[in-house]
Amino acid sequence: MKQFRKIGILTSGGDAPGMNAAIRAAARRALYNDIEVVGIRNGYQGMIMGHFRELQSYMVGDIIQRGGTILKSARSEDFRTKEGRRQAYRNLKKEDIDGVVVIGGDGSFRGAREFTEEFSIPFVGVPGTIDNDLYGTDYTIGYDTALNTIIDAVDKIRDTASSHDRLFFIEVMGRDAGFLALRGGIATGAEAILIPEINYDTVNLKEHLAKSYKRRKLTNIVLVAEGDETGGAFEVAEQVKEDFKGFDIRVTVLGHIQRGGSPSAFDRVIASQMGAAAVEALLDDQKSVMVGMMNREIVHVPFNKTIKHQKDVNRSLLDLQEILSI
Ligand code: F6P
Repeated sequence: MKQFRKIGILTSGGDAPGMNAAIRAAARRALYNDIEVVGIRNGYQGMIMGHFRELQSYMVGDIIQRGGTILKSARSEDFRTKEGRRQAYRNLKKEDIDGVVVIGGDGSFRGAREFTEEFSIPFVGVPGTIDNDLYGTDYTIGYDTALNTIIDAVDKIRDTASSHDRLFFIEVMGRDAGFLALRGGIATGAEAILIPEINYDTVNLKEHLAKSYKRRKLTNIVLVAEGDETGGAFEVAEQVKEDFKGFDIRVTVLGHIQRGGSPSAFDRVIASQMGAAAVEALLDDQKSVMVGMMNREIVHVPFNKTIKHQKDVNRSLLDLQEILSI
C-alpha cells in the first residue's frame, strides 16, 4: 500500500447533487487511514490561488443530504496553461499534498490528465455530472437526482397540458448528450424526444405528432435535449408551428433547476462508494484514472480512455421510447 501524508479534494466543472456525499466519503476514507485531508475550494482555480483548508471529520458532517458542493466549483482558464498548472503544483508541494481526488466531468479529467503528465502528484477522478456522459461508468453522480427533478417537473406540466390539450416542448439539460432526455422521456411517457446523438429531423417529428393527433392523443410532450442539433425547444416549436396552426403550443426550459436539490438515495450511495474508492485507488498506487461503476461494481478507467471515447446511448431504450410513444 502506498503511503500518503495528505490528500486534496476538489470539485470542478458544473456542480451535481451528490458531490457533497462524494467529498464526505473521500475525506472520511482518507481520515480512516490517518491521512490528512485538505479541501481545495473553487476547483483548479483554487489550486492555483492556494485556496486550501484542512478538512476534519466533523466538517464533512451534515452534508450528505445537501445539493451543490461545499467546496464550490469553477471552470479554470488558467489551469489550461502550463504556467497555471506549474503554480498549482507549487502550491500542492508547499502544502505537502501528495495525492488529489477530483470530482467532476470530462473537462475536469482533461485538466487532471495534463497535470499528471507534467508533474508527479497522482490524481484520481470521481464522475460528477448530471449529464451522465462519461465513458466507462454506467452512472455519474447527480444524474439520478436530475432525472427525478425532470420527472417531477414534466409530470406537473402534463397536468396543465392535458387540461388545455396543449403541445409542449420541454428542454432539458445536456449540452453534448441526450441521456437526461432519453431516460426522462421514458419515465414521463413523452410522445417524442430529440437528442444530439440521433438525427431525427423536424419532418419526422411533424409526421410523428400528426399521427399522434390522429390517434386522438390531444396532449403531446416533446423532450428536447439542449444540445440537440435543432437548436433547442424554442427553435423546434418555431419550426413545427406552421404545420400545427390549430394547436396550442407552449415551451418550457427547465434550466438549472436540474442541477440543484437534495441527492436521491441512489446518488448518495454511489457517491459514497466512488468517493471512498477514489482514495483506495490512490492507496493502491493508481493514478490518472477515473473511478466508475459498471454493472454495480467499482471499475478504474484511465483518464485517457474516458476522455477519448464517447459513451453510446442505449439503442434498446431508444427503440422502447419509440414503441411506447404511439
Ligand atoms: O452540468 C452539465 C451541464 O448541466 C450541461 O448539460 C449544461 O449545458 C451546462 O452544464 C451548463 O452549465 P453552466 O451554466 O454552469 O455553464
